[in-house]
Amino acid sequence: MRATAIAQPNIALIKYWGKRDIAQNLPAVGSISITLSELYTEMTVQPDASLKRDELVVNGEKSSEMLPRISACLDQLIGLERTFARIESRSNFPIAAGLASSASAFAALTVAAARATNMSPTTASLARHAGRASGSAARSLYGGYAELANGSDGIEVTTLCSANAWPMSVVVAITQVAAKAVGSTRAMEISRQTSPFYDSWIEQQAGDLDVARRAIEEHDFAALATIAEHNCLKMHSVMWASRPPMMYWNSATLACMQTVRRLQSEGCDVFFTIDAGPQVKAVCLPGEAARVRVALEHTPGVIEVMHTGLGAGARLLDAS
Ligand code: PMV
Repeated sequence: MRATAIAQPNIALIKYWGKRDIAQNLPAVGSISITLSELYTEMTVQPDASLKRDELVVNGEKSSEMLPRISACLDQLIGLERTFARIESRSNFPIAAGLASSASAFAALTVAAARATNMSPTTASLARHAGRASGSAARSLYGGYAELANGSDGIEVTTLCSANAWPMSVVVAITQVAAKAVGSTRAMEISRQTSPFYDSWIEQQAGDLDVARRAIEEHDFAALATIAEHNCLKMHSVMWASRPPMMYWNSATLACMQTVRRLQSEGCDVFFTIDAGPQVKAVCLPGEAARVRVALEHTPGVIEVMHTGLGAGARLLDAS
C-alpha cells in the first residue's frame, strides 16, 4: 500500500535544548509548542519488495542526506524485517534552516509509514517514534498548543489548548535560506559538555513550563510573551557560552528582534522566538498580524515573510 500524510512544523515557546539519553533521543527537559497551519511537509511511503534499500526524494530530487535517519525511523516503527520503501517528501518552506522541517517530516513519516504497512498505532506511540528521530517531531503529531512532558519512562505529549480555543498568528521572517552549519543534535551535546549555563538552564525549565502552561490556560498573552522570550534568550545564552560558541543569528535576526521590540513599545501584542537557526518567528494575536507582517517586511535583511495561524496534528491524506 502507498500512503501519504501531512504534518505541520511546530514552534517551541518553551524550548527543548539538551538530551538526557542520546541513544534513545530523550530530551533533558520538557517543552511547550504551537503547531502551525500554513507550512507543511507531505510524506508518501510506498513499500516495494523489489528495492534493495530505501529511496528518498525530497522536493522532487533524490536525496541521501536525510536517508539514514528516515531508514532508522522506519526500522524502529515497522521492525528490521520490513520491506524497503520509496519515500517522497514535499515541503513548502526552507528545510534544515531552523524552521522545524525535521519535526513536520518525521511526524508525517510515522503516520504515512504506519498506514502503508497496515499498522494502527496510537498517536502517543507514533509521537514516541517520531520523537526518537527528532525530539521536536513528537509535538507535530498534536495540534494547537502541545506540551511534551519528559517523564522517567519516556516522553508524553498532550494538547494544552486547541488551535480554535486561543487563535494565534505567527509571522516568520526568513533571514537566510541556507541550511544551518551545526545540526541541533551536535549543538545540544556541545552545550551540555561545555556551557557553564547548561545546568541552570535544565534546573529552571520546570518553572518556565509552569508559567507558560498557566498563561495558555488563562489566555494571558502578556505572561506568555514574557516567559517565551525569556526562555528563548536563555537557550541562546547557553549556546553562545558554549565552546565553540553556537551563534545561529545574523544581523537581520537582530534587526527583526528590534522591530518586535518597537512594535511592543507601540502597544502591539507580539513576541519573538528563535530556534537553532537565523529565522525569527513573531507570535501575535491575529488582529496584529498585518501590522507585524509589514514591519518585518520592511526590516533590513529580511528575505521573505510568511504568515500562518495554528493548525492540526499530523494526519493521513491518502492511502491506496
Ligand atoms: O528536534 P530537534 O533535534 O531539531 O531540536 C529542536 C530544538 C529547538 O528547535 C531549538 C527547540 C525546540 O524545542 O523545538
